[in-house]
Amino acid sequence: MGRFYITTPIYYVNDAPHVGHAYTTVNADALARWHRLRGDETRFLTGTDEHGQKVADAAAKNGVSPQEWTDRTSARFREAWDALGISYDDFIRTTEPRHYETVQKFLGAIYDNGYIYKDVYRGLYCVSCEDYYTLESSDQGRCPIHGRALTEMEEENWFFRLSAFEDRLREHYESHPDFVTPETKRNEAASFIRGGLRDISITRTSIAWGVPVPWDEGHVFYVWYDALINYMTAIGYGRDGDEVATWWPFSHHLIGKEIIRFHCVWWPAMCMAAGLEPPHHVQVHGWLLMGGQKLSKTMAAEGAVKLTDIAPVTLTSEFGVDPVRYYLLRETSLGNDGEFSHEGITHRYNTDLANNLGNLMSRVATVVATKCAGVGPAPRADSELAPLARAAIADAVEAWDSFSPQGALESTWRLLSATNAYLEEHAPWKMAPGVDVEAVLGDALEVLRLAAVLATPAMPAVCAEIWRRIGLTGSPEDATVDVAATWGLYPGGLVVEKGEPLFPRIRIDA
Ligand code: ME8
Ligand code: MG
Repeated sequence: MGRFYITTPIYYVNDAPHVGHAYTTVNADALARWHRLRGDETRFLTGTDEHGQKVADAAAKNGVSPQEWTDRTSARFREAWDALGISYDDFIRTTEPRHYETVQKFLGAIYDNGYIYKDVYRGLYCVSCEDYYTLESSDQGRCPIHGRALTEMEEENWFFRLSAFEDRLREHYESHPDFVTPETKRNEAASFIRGGLRDISITRTSIAWGVPVPWDEGHVFYVWYDALINYMTAIGYGRDGDEVATWWPFSHHLIGKEIIRFHCVWWPAMCMAAGLEPPHHVQVHGWLLMGGQKLSKTMAAEGAVKLTDIAPVTLTSEFGVDPVRYYLLRETSLGNDGEFSHEGITHRYNTDLANNLGNLMSRVATVVATKCAGVGPAPRADSELAPLARAAIADAVEAWDSFSPQGALESTWRLLSATNAYLEEHAPWKMAPGVDVEAVLGDALEVLRLAAVLATPAMPAVCAEIWRRIGLTGSPEDATVDVAATWGLYPGGLVVEKGEPLFPRIRIDA
């Protein structure tokens, strides 16, 4: 038993959440649920990033104060996460007093350690990224991600001496090969460092919407500089040193690939500058695309897609909560890009959920009703499904442990397919009541129980429902996985309920 502290990026509140944000949050949620199932002491943090030019502009455009705008929009993220069954332990907002306090103390420590100095900043800026570009790193004066013209900026600012950390960062990457996963993303981060690091401007005087710089009135911190520190605010930095010591060594940041430089270069250097260890691990994922383009609030603002069509709450009301979660976890492995579409969800739903898991549940319950008077028999210790189940369990555990919800679900569904094939082969619906039919059904019930355990981080509501239908009390989350994921624990003698189909097929109009 260990500890697990997982975070999502805190999302900008310039506009409402979409399925891209849900992708990260559902993955983090499933991983948090997995670690709770493992028996780990777990802490799951998400929240909203409420400062910066982009948010201030959105508030002005909507004719309200930045605070009113962020209150409203932050609530929409929370609604979306409630709709998706997200089990966060803490939801942080960067406008909270606890965050101001931590930011000022954390940056105060960096200042006291001599890594902050004053200079004039001249350069190009993208408000959508809230990031600086040089002419060389830009796309001919345009943002390489958003395609918008960059703004020229010149201000007297405070700078962070990032350049002082090149060697220490390089050493950290060498001595911690799994600091950033997957490896392709680690290489990308390492190559930023090899390319040489420039100091970064970390304050603004041109806007007032930010955390005030404690040692220089009239300056506020640059939004990225305050945002990264949220991971420290939530574990009590500056307020409770024991809590930081408890959680920081077990930290895992789950992020999209466009913010690698901030999390894998700036942030570890900031931690070093403040006298702390870098985060334990950064897990990078790719993008959900639509028509090959990164799905984004900027894309929606430009009219390429309606934000409401890709809103998490729209999708859950159309497909159900757990099917949306399943799709997001199963379709793309963390690290790769994937095309998002309604056809894609429908296809996954019909093949994996309706035809495989749902079909197994309803076949088993139907035959238990007709051949066993509705009472589920126990499995056999020497069932031919037992070795398949043991292999699937081992693979699923290994995959969940290594940040691969996709791999874990793939292994679990391999067992479900094998069990459906096993039923077809033995055709218990054609057998006479008696020990033979009981043996086959007992084995299939045991597979349903095991699948409910292995898939509960992905589909908690559906798995609890399967648990209930096969007559078990409590939920698949009650026992730790090393106890529950063992062949043969379904006791038999329980009343099995048929119920409505778990996943009614979605008809596709040709
Ligand atoms: O970057 N595919 O906030 P943000 C997959 N506030 N993931 C996506 C996605 C897509 N198409 N679109 C968004 C910020 N995401 C900063 C973070 S952290 C200290 C500050 C997810 O609102 C993905 O996790 O732009 C990405 O990294 C994040 O949303 C960016 O959200
Ligand atoms: Mg973004």
